[in-house]
Amino acid sequence: MSKVFVFTAFGGPEHQQLTERAAPVPGPGEIAIAVRAAGVNPADWKRRRGAFGTDGALPVAMGLEAAGVVTAVGEGVEGFAVGDEVLGTPARGLGAFAEHTVLDAAASVAKPADVPFTDAATIPVAATTAYDLTHQVEIEPGQTLLVLGAGGGVGLMALQIAKVHRFQAVGVASDAKRELVESTGATFVASGPGAADRVRAVAPDGIDLLADLVGGDALRALAPLLKDPSHLVSAADPATARELGGSGRVRTEGVLEKITGVVGYGLVSPNVVATYPLDRAAEALALVESGHSAGKVVIVP
Ligand SMILES: NC(=O)c1ccc[n+]([C@@H]2O[C@H](COP(=O)([O-])OP(=O)(O)OC[C@H]3O[C@@H](n4cnc5c(N)ncnc54)[C@H](OP(=O)(O)O)[C@@H]3O)[C@@H](O)[C@H]2O)c1
Repeated sequence: MSKVFVFTAFGGPEHQQLTERAAPVPGPGEIAIAVRAAGVNPADWKRRRGAFGTDGALPVAMGLEAAGVVTAVGEGVEGFAVGDEVLGTPARGLGAFAEHTVLDAAASVAKPADVPFTDAATIPVAATTAYDLTHQVEIEPGQTLLVLGAGGGVGLMALQIAKVHRFQAVGVASDAKRELVESTGATFVASGPGAADRVRAVAPDGIDLLADLVGGDALRALAPLLKDPSHLVSAADPATARELGGSGRVRTEGVLEKITGVVGYGLVSPNVVATYPLDRAAEALALVESGHSAGKVVIVP
């Protein structure tokens, strides 16, 4: 048997538990892995709370991004072999917070040798999001990128990508994250009331691209600083972004390969702030659910 962390009903963290299942077998187009690390995302607790619907079968295996070692290869899969180190997205809702899972081969890539499993496990969801938000609207070197929610898992990687492209990056985060944001080369602006005035003070000519990881009123306050309202992209709150003239995150073709390469070259390094063993997955989830983690939280089965 193989351990897996699930939720058994939609709602609060009291519905989460560690349980066991037979190690899943890969179907056509899938690869089975022994999980070495799994990234924790806000989407994990949002899904448990029912934010994406409550129609699915229960229990639900949790975890949306994983890195590990291939143990079996399904029919028709090319380019992967037993023993390969890979990262990717679990297939068929089989979850990443598990000793063993199955990945969709089309949503998986080889792990660069120099990238630790814990960093690799943050690429399929968090790093791809950072890539998309900084690429789906093209801006030029020297132009200004504003990242709202800059001190979180996605935001910190977006700021590192901005440095690669030589954008003028401004990161909005809570005071405690000033050093973290500045360590990426970005200009720090404190979040909260008055944030728009503080951004205006450091970017008086306006903002060329706003990458949003917070949404709601915080986003509404900053959106008027954009020179072009359509240059607003949001991973956190697409509905508000659209209302303001912007858009939600759009997946770039080949994004997983592209950002994996960027991480492999050492240009972007996920800020893994905490790792937890599988039997403490609830604590890892709670840290992310607090909404104030300062980077990525990873479960290491
Ligand atoms: N659509 C997609 O495919 C996709 C993919 C990945 C992520 N997302 C979404 O993107 C959002 C961010 O994800 P993440 O993984 O980066 O989350 P995270 O690591 O939990 O970071 C969230 C950050 O938001 C900050 N924050 C909260 N309220 C703020 C405010 N008013 N002003 C400025 N910062 C604020 C927090 O920092 P402070 O402590 O500084 O407040 C925290 O660092 C989540 O809503 C997530 O669901 C969507």
